[in-house]
Amino acid sequence: MSSYTAQSREPGRAPLPMTDRQDRWWVQPVLIVATLVLFGIYAGFRAFENNFYETRQLIESQPGLQAAPLYLSPFYSPPLHHLIASWPAALSPALFLVIFPLSFRGTCYYCRKAYYRAFFWDPPACAVAEIRDRARMKYSGETTLPFVVNNFHRYALYLILVYVVFHWYHLYEAFHYVDAAGSVKLGYFGLGTLIFGLDAVLLSLYVFSCHSWRHLIGGGANNFSRSPIRLKLWQIVTTLNKRHGLYFWLSLATVGLADIYVRLVASGIIPDLAVRL
Ligand code: FES
Repeated sequence: MSSYTAQSREPGRAPLPMTDRQDRWWVQPVLIVATLVLFGIYAGFRAFENNFYETRQLIESQPGLQAAPLYLSPFYSPPLHHLIASWPAALSPALFLVIFPLSFRGTCYYCRKAYYRAFFWDPPACAVAEIRDRARMKYSGETTLPFVVNNFHRYALYLILVYVVFHWYHLYEAFHYVDAAGSVKLGYFGLGTLIFGLDAVLLSLYVFSCHSWRHLIGGGANNFSRSPIRLKLWQIVTTLNKRHGLYFWLSLATVGLADIYVRLVASGIIPDLAVRL
């Protein structure tokens, strides 16, 4: 345990070290900051880019191509530009779509712990003192702005369920291709299909291991013996919930990977590695 206390910072007292820990406790918060900042910069760039987010148009832009996959970047899903016929081409749908995953991840119980520690150092790690211990005395929890918005997590969950359905739909689409005549056909398996599969599975594991989802499944049940199916579901979600933090990072990584891959293929930088059945 650290011997550092808020009292030791009082004026006139000699400062004590932040912690007695000898290990590299700072590595994790630094990695979290670096990962989230880099991901945020990349996602912002892609949202504003408003280009290279789907691959079906390759059949027109690359003469001689026999098949183009139907990949859509997860940053541009659900495909508002297809669902709303009058969607203006100059307006990036990702700028609107990003709000909901951001709300969901930003209010996630795991993510809160991660960024409170990594960005605010509040505290940065177990048995390490807070940097701004006196400021913390004024901390009012999640009852006032800005942190009160974290209480909307359950509503963000309802919205993100729509995204999960679309991610599975895009995986289904990834088994299709457009041929030279412009017809959509089933029977395609590319590296992108594999990445989309990973993305759909990991996003589902992340969402269905959510604390709010666990509460939705079993939190309101007063008597589990009368709801055996609900009990079973709650036990499954509870098991998943133990690895919720891991699923947070893995699903973030596969969302980013899926977008990068779609961009590389859609911009013609690399061809899709694929077989047609
Ligand atoms: Fe992390 Fe709900 S608690 S997504």
